[in-house]
Amino acid sequence: MPISMPPAAASDLCSGATASGPAAGETAAPEHTVPERTGPENTGPEKAAPGSAGHAAASLGPDGPAAPFDAAERAAVYRAIFERRDVRDQFLPDPVSDEVLLRLLSAAHAAPSVGLSQPWNFILIRDAGVRAEIRAAFGAANAEAAAMFGEGRRALYSQLKLQGISEAPLCLCVTCDRSRGGPVVLGRTHDAATDLYSTVCAVQNLWLAARAEGIGVGWVSIFREGALQRILHLPGGVVPVALLCIGHVSALYDRPELEIRGWGQRHRLEDMVFADRWGRGDAGPE
Ligand SMILES: Cc1cc2nc3c(=O)[nH]c(=O)nc-3n(C[C@H](O)[C@H](O)[C@H](O)COP(=O)(O)O)c2cc1C
Repeated sequence: MPISMPPAAASDLCSGATASGPAAGETAAPEHTVPERTGPENTGPEKAAPGSAGHAAASLGPDGPAAPFDAAERAAVYRAIFERRDVRDQFLPDPVSDEVLLRLLSAAHAAPSVGLSQPWNFILIRDAGVRAEIRAAFGAANAEAAAMFGEGRRALYSQLKLQGISEAPLCLCVTCDRSRGGPVVLGRTHDAATDLYSTVCAVQNLWLAARAEGIGVGWVSIFREGALQRILHLPGGVVPVALLCIGHVSALYDRPELEIRGWGQRHRLEDMVFADRWGRGDAGPE
């Protein structure tokens, strides 16, 4: 069964507002778009306790789903990747339905994580007062940021819109609990940042799923250290990794907006790929 949380439960989880059907431009995706394995309820008796003898055997079936996707499925995955955009200025006020939001959060929660530690939490922010505080925190940091650039860049920087905190109907703070999993986490023993990397994987999953759902996402990172912790009452050891603005959009650019506005350009793939050691070229596929 796909994620089969009933709408009521979904709205309990996702919404301070009323449960709603698809909003403007939104189609209710068929349930089967969320694969069976991701369902939170899919923890049936075949799942032995982690670490128990039967656990490994029970998890790897003979028909392991390793076959490539068919052409249309592959095209859909790559389309989501290449057509994902960061959105700042095109948000519509229509709410994101609880059903869609639950699918986005399920996609995030399906991310890989170091030692399966799942260090993330998701704070849904709709309250206008809280959003105003976040918007003000952005404003303060953004003024500082502008001053860090040289004169020419500063003028261009100041013209860029770099957030949609007030316009998007929903903000989402994705946090990382630096102590999740205890003091020793498999895979994190020699790189403490792997919990942060895991949380970023969750953000990217959500971002791609949002593109498939026709929902825009914008990542806002221009905050003084500690600002989001204070506004959102994060406990010690929990850090904000991403503040996301989420909502339906009037349009999406076909290229990064920063490229369109002359701030930067995507590098050529062939300049990014090395063979066997740093700096050695000619490594790309034939
Ligand atoms: C970690 C991270 C932080 C970002 N912070 C901001 C931000 O504060 N404001 C903004 O407008 N865009 C932000 N972005 C979006 C990038 O500018 C954007 O991803 C990049 O320009 C490429 O555009 P695209 O995402 O549309 O392909 C951030 C992206 C990442 C991954």
